[in-house]
Amino acid sequence: MDRIVEIEKVSFESEYEVTLRPGSFDDYIGQEKIKSNLKVFIEAAKRRGECLDHVLFYGPPGLGKTTLAHIIATEMSSNIKITAAPMIEKSGDLAAILTNLEEGDVLFIDEIHRLSSAIEEVLYSAMEDFRLDIIIGSGPAAQTIKIDIPKFTLIGATTRAGMISAPLRDRFGMQFRLQFYTPSELAKIVSIASNKLGKSCQKEASLEVAKRSRGTPRIALRLLKRIRDFAEVNDESVITKNRAKEALDSLGVNDLGFDEMDIKYLDILVDAKNRPLGLSTIAAALSEDEGTIEDVIEPYLLANGYIQRTAKGRTLSHKSYELYGIKFTDDKGLFDD
Ligand SMILES: Nc1ncnc2c1ncn2[C@@H]1O[C@H](COP(=O)(O)OP(=O)(O)OP(=O)(O)O)[C@@H](O)[C@H]1O
Ligand SMILES: [Mg+2]
Repeated sequence: MDRIVEIEKVSFESEYEVTLRPGSFDDYIGQEKIKSNLKVFIEAAKRRGECLDHVLFYGPPGLGKTTLAHIIATEMSSNIKITAAPMIEKSGDLAAILTNLEEGDVLFIDEIHRLSSAIEEVLYSAMEDFRLDIIIGSGPAAQTIKIDIPKFTLIGATTRAGMISAPLRDRFGMQFRLQFYTPSELAKIVSIASNKLGKSCQKEASLEVAKRSRGTPRIALRLLKRIRDFAEVNDESVITKNRAKEALDSLGVNDLGFDEMDIKYLDILVDAKNRPLGLSTIAAALSEDEGTIEDVIEPYLLANGYIQRTAKGRTLSHKSYELYGIKFTDDKGLFDD
């Protein structure tokens, strides 16, 4: 923990997340391509005695972006300083952070799509030339001063890759999109975490949790914690499949891992019958912004074949029609069973 230097108000991390957070690539399950690439780039940077190039992680919430940032810092034997874009309000805030870095530090900026364009400008020269160009004063008296800053690695994370400006995105030498986890990967994560929490978890039990976790480690770990409570009050040291099922059912967790938003989203498409719906229509019906729908809700449904996205709009897939017990006829549209 002493390696983690926090800057002002930092993003919230609950204690259990920190203790369950994998500390090395070996404990970090899945995302094999990202891991193997990162290992090469880290090794190469270390051999050259240089900083690692800047890294951007993007993908839906809870898939392990922050965790990877910590692992990179550990592997590089660097300090990690953590902040989030909404905390950086003025270019002076960013200048203060950058001038306080030490050579080789990792600076992690969460929600990096939320930086204002003025602050992005300051970041450009910092990322490229490790230099700050600060304008002092305004009008004809304005002066630019250049300050050298220590070489550092910027790690940016976002759930909204589409909202990052191209000039900022291009300055990241590495860009990784995190994928949803397979049930067997999630089952492994659950089983390791369960041991850390002092309970062993039967294989079928961890798979049951995995199947209902929307491909997301954060959800799997949250469910595991609740199941552990059920085991606890029943004086059980082992989490069995039956206990896991009972707990998950009483928590009202859908056995396909859908959350409330997924269900509402699918209901809207069911109501639309066979008609493709545009993003703006769905956004209005869900009272949610379009970006969140595209970047947070839809990726899981698309990756698992529950919906289709075409030029005309979104429709349910045959898999969903079956799921909802809706009969599909090509010419006559849909009718309920
Ligand atoms: N590959 C993994 N193996 C084991 N545990 C993981 C893995 N990825 C994530 N986790 C666990 O899942 C939780 C969420 O991960 P993390 O906070 O890194 O997600 P994130 O992508 O940064 O989410 P957000 O977009 O909301 O910031 C953490 O408790 C972390 O320990
Ligand atoms: Mg995060």
